[in-house]
Amino acid sequence: MMAGAGRLSFTNITALAPMVRVGTLPMRLLALEYGADVVYCEELIDIKMAQCHRVVNEVLDVVDFVAPDDRVMFRTCEREKDRVVFQMGTADPDRALIVARLVEKDVAAIDVNMGCPKEYSTKGGMGAALLSDPDKIEAILKKLVTGVSIPVTCKIRILPSLEETVSLVRRIEKTGVTAVAIHGRLKEERPRHPLHCDYIQAVARAVSIPVIANGGSLDLVKTNADIEEFRKATGASSVMLARAAMWNASVFCNTGPLPLERVMEDYLKYAFQYNNHVFNTKYCLCQMLRDKVESPLGKQLQAAQTNAEISEAYGLQEFYQQTQDQLRAKRDVLQSFTQP
Ligand code: FNR
Repeated sequence: MMAGAGRLSFTNITALAPMVRVGTLPMRLLALEYGADVVYCEELIDIKMAQCHRVVNEVLDVVDFVAPDDRVMFRTCEREKDRVVFQMGTADPDRALIVARLVEKDVAAIDVNMGCPKEYSTKGGMGAALLSDPDKIEAILKKLVTGVSIPVTCKIRILPSLEETVSLVRRIEKTGVTAVAIHGRLKEERPRHPLHCDYIQAVARAVSIPVIANGGSLDLVKTNADIEEFRKATGASSVMLARAAMWNASVFCNTGPLPLERVMEDYLKYAFQYNNHVFNTKYCLCQMLRDKVESPLGKQLQAAQTNAEISEAYGLQEFYQQTQDQLRAKRDVLQSFTQP
């Protein structure tokens, strides 16, 4: 496989981690705007993705992957094309390749989730269940590496011993993946448990592909400056942030944090512009509000049933209306081309 000029690099980058429901298009664009180098989408399950068809939405200027029930499973756009990593949940090499080929032209890399400890993932042999089946890991990654022309990566958790962890990542490296992200916790451990930076460090020393350190939010990474400290503490090439970015994506800004109100407003502008599903928008804003979710704003947000109502809660009615008018005008122009 030739390394093309535009191939996404995972060396010395800061990434938005994959997060179910959080890592949809508005959050990814916001993270990029604030300074993230790479953005992962939420984990999408191979079986569901394999049923999707690719639709170009000219009004929104996006590419959608739409399920048979018309649900948009994955929405992406030109702005993130060179930076977005498509993360999938899979336990089947053939199906993984079908999905990777489906999205290959629209994303910058493919990632396989090997760290999710939730039952819905592990019961199908996906996520963290893969960690105890290295033959399956190898089969999936080899199939993807040889079958697509964009970088392939995976995201793992650590194994009970340092030796096992290093040996697994060495085996992963041999499959030809471009990078590996390591959440430095065991699959049984929860986010409140301390991170095993020493494991990430040992792996980073043992392999030559970039290692992306993950798991530092809350304790180790609170500010932009902490990202570099975390990188140093783990000896990794790169850093990936989930919760710190979900709470306030301006953690990616190297000019300092922005107030949450501003971050929510910036987020909402993308959500309106790209017609994000109202429930997803609400979910993300509630995550940002954290303990303020019962505040008057939080209550108004929770009561909102439409994007228009959310815009009222945030005093963004004018922006919302303008965006709607622009989209309507674009739709009319496009329709006038297609109608006889
Ligand atoms: C996650 N995480 C996760 N991991 C993954 O590989 N695929 C996914 O879809 C998700 N989904 C997800 C949703 C939410 C809301 C959270 C908080 C986390 C795990 C995440 O990527 C990361 O590994 C951990 O949160 C640890 O990193 P931080 O939060 O300490 O930066």
